[in-house]
Amino acid sequence: MSYTRAGEGGALRTYESMAPVYDDFTVGHDYEGWLTDLLKILEVHGLTGRRLLDVACGTGKSFLPMLPRGWQVTGCDLSPAMLALAEEKAGDSVELSVADMRELPELGEFDLVWALDDAINYLLSAEELEKALCGMRDNLAPTGLLLFDVNELLVYRTFYAETTVVEQRGRRLTWRGLGPVGADADSIFESRLEVEQVDGDGTGEVLEEASMHRQRHFPEAEVLAALDRAGLECLGIYAHGLDGVPVQPLDTSIHTKAIYIARRA
Ligand SMILES: C[S@@+](CC[C@H](N)C(=O)[O-])C[C@H]1O[C@@H](n2cnc3c(N)ncnc32)[C@H](O)[C@@H]1O
Repeated sequence: MSYTRAGEGGALRTYESMAPVYDDFTVGHDYEGWLTDLLKILEVHGLTGRRLLDVACGTGKSFLPMLPRGWQVTGCDLSPAMLALAEEKAGDSVELSVADMRELPELGEFDLVWALDDAINYLLSAEELEKALCGMRDNLAPTGLLLFDVNELLVYRTFYAETTVVEQRGRRLTWRGLGPVGADADSIFESRLEVEQVDGDGTGEVLEEASMHRQRHFPEAEVLAALDRAGLECLGIYAHGLDGVPVQPLDTSIHTKAIYIARRA
């Protein structure tokens, strides 16, 4: 694993602390099925080649299903702890580096650049989004495609407002949605993930400091404007609910995620 410039700030702390339980907390996410559907959409938009840059690849869940499909994968993330887990799974088969997507270095020329599973929502302003998109654009091959998802408001009105408990391998992971942050910053939402060791009688002992998750909602108009400013052309917007099956059009009353596909303008 190589180290470029690691960013500072909330998401770094969040994921350095969440890394040991990330795979357990997301155990129910079907990446094989999700990525299969995303690749079908990308093919409709002219995907060619097999070089992938997975931005904010975390523990590798968003690139591992690409390896048996013959893709050459490069991954980067803000969090060294998340990347260490990706490296344990992928070994030398993947090029991994610590990088902040707001200052993404040129890591190569890629047929596909993607940032999956809420990574974009950890950017906290339209300016940060634009910077990240510029960096992704600079890593695209001339005919390369960019794909990323963003959480829709429905996620913040449900998951980010409720408590969800996942028990895995003797640990209880409690997600406490805290809702909007501040009166005039209602597009930023917070949640807290607590980790406890569960005893036989169901009582829990706190294992480590909770990780705080702070995400921003990006409405469609804001994403389209940022793409435009970053020199990218939006080719399509898809959406899905908790089933993860992408459809059109985006309906914010039922969809939890929007998926944007773009190329160099
Ligand atoms: C929900 S995880 C998704 C990880 C992976 N893509 C997946 O699907 O499992 C979000 C990831 O975004 C990373 N992240 C957040 N802000 C980032 C930034 N500014 N630059 C790079 N990575 C960032 C976190 O470290 C974390 O690994």
